[in-house]
Amino acid sequence: MIEYQEATKRYGPGTPALDSLTLEIPAGETCVLVGPSGGGKTTALKMVNRLVEPTSGRVLIDGRDVAAGDPVELRRGIGYVIQQVGLFPHLDVAANVATVPRLVGWDRRRIDARVDELLDLVGLDPATYRHRRPDELSGGQRQRVGVARALATDPPILLMDEPFGAVDPVTRARLQDEFLRLQGQLRRTVVLVTHDIDEALRLGDHLAVLAAGGRLEQYGTPAEVLARPATPFVADFVGAGRTLRRLDLLAATDALAGGGAAESGPTVSPDATLADVVAALLTSDAPAVRVVGNGAVVGSVTLDSIRAALRQEEAP
Ligand SMILES: Nc1ncnc2c1ncn2[C@@H]1O[C@H](COP(=O)(O)OP(=O)(O)OP(=O)(O)O)[C@@H](O)[C@H]1O
Ligand SMILES: [Mg+2]
Repeated sequence: MIEYQEATKRYGPGTPALDSLTLEIPAGETCVLVGPSGGGKTTALKMVNRLVEPTSGRVLIDGRDVAAGDPVELRRGIGYVIQQVGLFPHLDVAANVATVPRLVGWDRRRIDARVDELLDLVGLDPATYRHRRPDELSGGQRQRVGVARALATDPPILLMDEPFGAVDPVTRARLQDEFLRLQGQLRRTVVLVTHDIDEALRLGDHLAVLAAGGRLEQYGTPAEVLARPATPFVADFVGAGRTLRRLDLLAATDALAGGGAAESGPTVSPDATLADVVAALLTSDAPAVRVVGNGAVVGSVTLDSIRAALRQEEAP
C-alpha cells in the first residue's frame, strides 16, 4: 500500500506544485493521477521513489516512510516508466531491459532468460527485437521496451508517467489493452500519470483528479467520478461526454426493469454494457432489450430502467 500524508512540494513562494496530498493506494491496484498540465502529477509520482522530496508531509510504502531508508535501495523495489520512455539510445533492447538486473548482480544466464520472458510478456518477439537499438523501433515498440525494463526485477510497485503519451491513438489503445491484460496477471501496485481522462477511466481502479496548484479535487473509482463529480472542476474536466461514458462502465444487468421480461425485441448477452443496450434500442423499434444468457432470459432493459440506474448511482 502507498499512502500520501499531507504531502506538499513547494519550489518557491506562491502556489505549491503539490498541495497537501492525502490518499491511500491499496496494494495491487492501479491509481491514475489525472489532471491538466502543471497540476503536480509528476511531482506526486516522483515522491514515491524520492526523485522529489516533499517540503512537508510524507509518503509511506507499507507503513514505512520512504524518506527513512536508502533511496537506491528504495528504487530497486520500484519500476519506473518515464514520460518519453528514456531508453538508453546506444544500448540494444536486451541491454536496456537488463539494466536493473545487471545493477543488482544477476548472472548472465538468468538475465538472458528474464529478458526473453519480458519481451514475450510485452508482445515483442525476442528473436526479432533483442538486438535492435531504440532508433530501430517504432514509438509503440519503444514504449513496450520501457515497460519491460521497468518490470525486470519484478518490483511490487510500478510508477508510470504518461507511458502511452507519445504514440498514435491506435497504438495507444493497443498498449492500454496490453497494460490491462498484464496488470490483470501481475497485480502490481501501479501509479500512472496521464492528462487524458479517457485513459484514466479505462486504466484506473481509482482516479485522483489534480487541479492547478496541486490540489486534489477528487479521489474515487471511475464510476464514482463520473456519477458524482466532487467539484465543478471535476465535472468540467470529465466533460460533456460524461453520461455516455457512464453507459460504457455499467452492465446491462445493472439496469434491469422490474416486472416480467419483454416478449420480443433485440437481445444482448449478460456481459453487454448499457452502451450496447442503448445502441440496440436506437437501431430497433422495440421499447425494451432482452438480456439473454445460456438460453435463458435474465430480464429486460428499457430507457426508463436505464434512467433509474443512472439516478441511483448519482445518489451519495
Ligand atoms: N524542478 C522544478 N523547479 C521549479 N518548479 C517546478 C519543478 N518541477 C516542477 N515544477 C512546477 O511544479 C508544478 C507541477 O509540475 P508537474 O511536473 O508535477 O506537473 P504535471 O501535472 O506533471 O504536468 P504535465 O502534465 O505537463 O507533465 C508546475 O507548475 C511546474 O512548473
Ligand atoms: Mg508530468
